[in-house]
Amino acid sequence: MNEIPHGTVQEQTFYEQVGGEETFRRLVHRFYEGVAQDPLLRPMYPEEDLGPAEERLALFLMQYWGGPRTYSENRGHPRLRMRHAPFAVDRAAHDAWLTHMRAAVDDLGLTEEQDRTLWTYLTYAAASMVNRAG
Ligand code: HEM
Repeated sequence: MNEIPHGTVQEQTFYEQVGGEETFRRLVHRFYEGVAQDPLLRPMYPEEDLGPAEERLALFLMQYWGGPRTYSENRGHPRLRMRHAPFAVDRAAHDAWLTHMRAAVDDLGLTEEQDRTLWTYLTYAAASMVNRAG
């Protein structure tokens, strides 16, 4: 909570609480270092250069947690399930995605509560992205 004049209080966004853009950029950068080495996930990414995918995920997460709305300004409504439809997100891809994300979250050094908040979201979101049996 931030004290602001006239005795009112303003809730800090989760984005601000965890350190803003720098934190989300670190998270996603670390995540894509894992993806780059992953024999299942790496071939799923259509572009040779993972940089643009890294940028999209960072901007999406920043926006989701209350940061700038740059993702939607560039990409429109997220519609993430639809955007993932061309990719075979099965159980194995889901597990690999979460493994790299877990390592990346661990490196952030968040408080236990912040960690739980972020991780709960990521696990639910990953489960909702599964679009193939197996
Ligand atoms: C469950 C396993 C998942 C797999 C295998 C996966 C894979 C992919 C792939 C291959 C792309 C295309 C790369 C690109 O060109 O951007 C992509 C895009 C994206 N993914 Fe995932 N993804 C997964 C889960 C998630 C989750 C849980 C989120 C959000 C929390 C997410 C957010 C995004 C975003 C924001 C994009 C870019 C969308 C756009 O603007 O085009 N993904 N993902």
